Amino acid sequence: MKTLADAFEHTLQDVYYAENAIAKALPKVIEAVSNGDLKTALKDHLGETKGQIKTLEAVFKSIGKKVSGEKCDAIEGLIKETEGVIEEAEGAVAKHAAIVGCCQAVEHYEIARYGTLREWAKALGENEAHDLLSSILDEEKAANHKLTHIAITSLNKTK
Ligand SMILES: [Fe+2]
Ligand SMILES: [Fe+2]
Repeated sequence: MKTLADAFEHTLQDVYYAENAIAKALPKVIEAVSNGDLKTALKDHLGETKGQIKTLEAVFKSIGKKVSGEKCDAIEGLIKETEGVIEEAEGAVAKHAAIVGCCQAVEHYEIARYGTLREWAKALGENEAHDLLSSILDEEKAANHKLTHIAITSLNKTK
């Protein structure tokens, strides 16, 4: 990795791997959840995630590179943590709150990545990539806000 273009391509491969890992992991999270609003929000975001994978493929195409993924240790760790919470949390309140916490860690990771990537795309003059990445960033931010809303309106209970 020598140039900003190299860093851009590398990080794109990293998020492509991450989105595929998230798409694979989410069904198990959805299954573990019984709260209707949370279940619906996660199902919706699984659909969006599948769309984001397609959008990332369009980003690769727009910069003339082949679609590929590069193992992302960060997302592996966040998913592992989520799976641990699903296994260990006992009460429904703790379980739902902890699952939302884990999902928001994933959203914040994605927000960080896409924020960086779209600015790099802009600096590189890759306008189509910038717009596509911005559209994903907006979805991640909206997903995060939705999780916050569900947590504070119906999940965070002390009794
Ligand atoms: Fe995503
Ligand atoms: Fe997301």
